[in-house]
Amino acid sequence: MKKMLLLNGPNLNLLGLREPEQYGRTTLADVEAMCQDAAKRLGVELECFQSNWEGALIDKIHDYGRLFKAGQAVGAVFNPGAFTHTSVALHDAIKGVDGLPVIEIHISNVHARESFRHHSYVSPAAAGIVVGFGVQGYLLAMEGLMRKQAQG
Ligand code: DQA
Repeated sequence: MKKMLLLNGPNLNLLGLREPEQYGRTTLADVEAMCQDAAKRLGVELECFQSNWEGALIDKIHDYGRLFKAGQAVGAVFNPGAFTHTSVALHDAIKGVDGLPVIEIHISNVHARESFRHHSYVSPAAAGIVVGFGVQGYLLAMEGLMRKQAQG
């Protein structure tokens, strides 16, 4: 069975507690459990990883770049949190592994929020983007990733 990565960046470990009016009351553990159910339906083995450290996220992207090249992974669903708006290094990591499909997801509609959230360094390197569907967006992103891979 091929692997899929569910990657969450800084402060997403606080989901459910953090600004619930913005991000809802579902915890990261709930999101990961919901995504594990979806992975069973989609026929992939899901690895969930969250870090507040940019380098740890970059290392995971590199790992999955290698797995993708070896035909052992389908890609990644990635909520880069605030690093979305700051990180050239994450952009370069996705570009650098050359081919790993990454679906960028944001729980909130970043375009309806402060202007500093309107720009993403990740989007130009992403295979697709899901924005503003709440935590259900993770499921849409997983589904979208599978459809993209079926298209070849
Ligand atoms: C977020 C949006 C980002 O602007 C913010 O820094 C986050 C969460 C979202 O999922 O809506 O941490 O990525």
